[in-house]
Amino acid sequence: MIQIQLIADLKKCINEAKTTGKSIGFVPTMGYLHEGHMSLANQAREENDFVVMSIFVNPAQFGPNEDLDKYPRDLNRDIKMAKEAGVDLLFFPQVNEMYPQDGGITIRAGAQANVLCGASRPGHFDGVLKVVTKLFHLVEPTRVYFGQKDAQQLAIIETLVRDYNFPLEVRRVPTVREFDGLAKSSRNVFLSEQDRKEAPSIHQAIQLGLEHYKEHQNVDEAKKVTKQHIENSTSGNIDYVELLSYPNLTNDISSNSSVILAVAVFFEKARLIDNMMLNNKGE
Ligand code: PAJ
Repeated sequence: MIQIQLIADLKKCINEAKTTGKSIGFVPTMGYLHEGHMSLANQAREENDFVVMSIFVNPAQFGPNEDLDKYPRDLNRDIKMAKEAGVDLLFFPQVNEMYPQDGGITIRAGAQANVLCGASRPGHFDGVLKVVTKLFHLVEPTRVYFGQKDAQQLAIIETLVRDYNFPLEVRRVPTVREFDGLAKSSRNVFLSEQDRKEAPSIHQAIQLGLEHYKEHQNVDEAKKVTKQHIENSTSGNIDYVELLSYPNLTNDISSNSSVILAVAVFFEKARLIDNMMLNNKGE
C-alpha cells in the first residue's frame, strides 16, 4: 500500500493510475477505522481497479465547541486495517497541506442542511463539502463511497455531485452494526460502560418507530414511539428525532417518497447518530 502525505506525491500516483486506464474507487474518512469504513473499502475494492482511502480529521467541519481535539486517532492501526482491506493508496495529509491559505470562498450546503445534524451543528456540512470538493479534485475518482449511517451527509454530497456535475458516481453503502444493533462509529469509544449498554436502544427505537409508521402512516406518532423508547431505556438526552422525506429531507412526504427516521442522542461524552430508511415500497 502506498502511503502519502503530500498532494504533489498524490497527484503523481493518480496520474499514473489514470494514464494506465484504471478506475479509481475513493473512500474518504476521518480515520480511527472500524468495520463500517472497511465495508466501504471492500465495496470500492470489488468495483474498481485502484482504491484510494483518505484519513483527515477535517477541522472545517467541527464547530468551536465540538470534539476536534478529542477526536480519536490511531494512524498505525489505521494503516494496518487499510492494508488488510486491500487499499492501494492511503492519503493522510496534515491540515496545512489541505488548507495552506484561505481565499475566503465558501461552498454552502442548501436547505438539506437546515434540519437534523445541520440544525444542531451550524456550518458542519459546509465544512464537509469543502473537504470533499478538494479531495474529489485531488483523487479524480470514478466512484466514491459513503455510508448510509451519515444519511444527511450522503444526501448533501449527492446533491453537490449532481448540481455541479462532478464526473463521478456516488455509491451508497449500508450501515454496519455491532452484534446488538449499535451502529459502528469512531465515537463509540467515548461511551461509558453504562452508556454502551444503553446505546443499542437507539436502533431498537428507530425500528419501533418505523414499524409504527409503516402500519399507521402517522409521522408524529411514529416519532413519539421512537422518543419514548429512547427516554425509557437510556440516560441520554435526545438532540432530535425526525421523520422526513429522503433525500430531500423535508416534511413533505407523499405516497411515493422514501422516508428516513433519524435520531441523535447526547450521552455524557459522545453524541451518537443513527437512522433507517423506508423506500416507497415500504422496504
Ligand atoms: P467518518 O465519520 O470517518 O466516516 C467515513 C465514512 O464511513 C462515511 O461515509 C460514513 O458514512 C461511513 N461510515 C461510518 N460509520 C459507518 C457504519 N457504521 N456503517 C457504514 N458506513 C459507515 O464521514 C466522515 O468521516 C467525514 O465527514 C468525511 C466524509 C470523511 C469528510 O470529512
